[in-house]
Amino acid sequence: MNRILAGIVVALLCGIGGCQDSRDEAPPVDREEALRAARADSVARATEMYDAAVFDTITWETENARWERGGVVWSFTCQRCHGSDGKGHGPDATNFDMAVPDITAADWPYAGDIPAIRERIFVGHDSEMPSMGLIGLTYRDVDASAHYIDDLLRTGP
Ligand code: HEC
Repeated sequence: MNRILAGIVVALLCGIGGCQDSRDEAPPVDREEALRAARADSVARATEMYDAAVFDTITWETENARWERGGVVWSFTCQRCHGSDGKGHGPDATNFDMAVPDITAADWPYAGDIPAIRERIFVGHDSEMPSMGLIGLTYRDVDASAHYIDDLLRTGP
């Protein structure tokens, strides 16, 4: 009788997960590593999708119209990390302890290189820079924000 009771108790405990064989458990997940792998996957997909020739089909009525659009994209999509001045101190950078580069620095590697800036924006980075092309930023907005960075943010007001 006691054995039957003990069996019931064991069955109940096992039922709520108390008797799992530790050898069957999934290995502990390193969250940082998993996130970086997911981001690297996004970068790879975006790189595959990226088509620089699309920019040849984009026209702007005036340079000003492109800058204006770039400013809108910047304030809604980018400045939370990059900061309104591009120096890398947006509220998310501070709150989440993100290393966001100062893209107005004199020695910024992409200075003056619009094609490279567009590609960086579209493709993103396996750190915290999102793959903007994958999450729906249009080529037009990629173009506008690239020019906003290089023509305006980097030269100052
Ligand atoms: C979630 C935060 C975040 C957002 C939002 C964000 N960025 Fe970034 N960005 C970063 C970080 C972090 C880096 C540095 C990447 C690295 O080198 O590790 C970066 C790098 C860059 C670079 C330089 C590329 C490089 O490899 O150094 C450009 C250009 C850029 N971002 C443009 C933009 C634009 C334009 C937007 C908005 C359309 C934007 N970013 C939105 C975090 C962000």
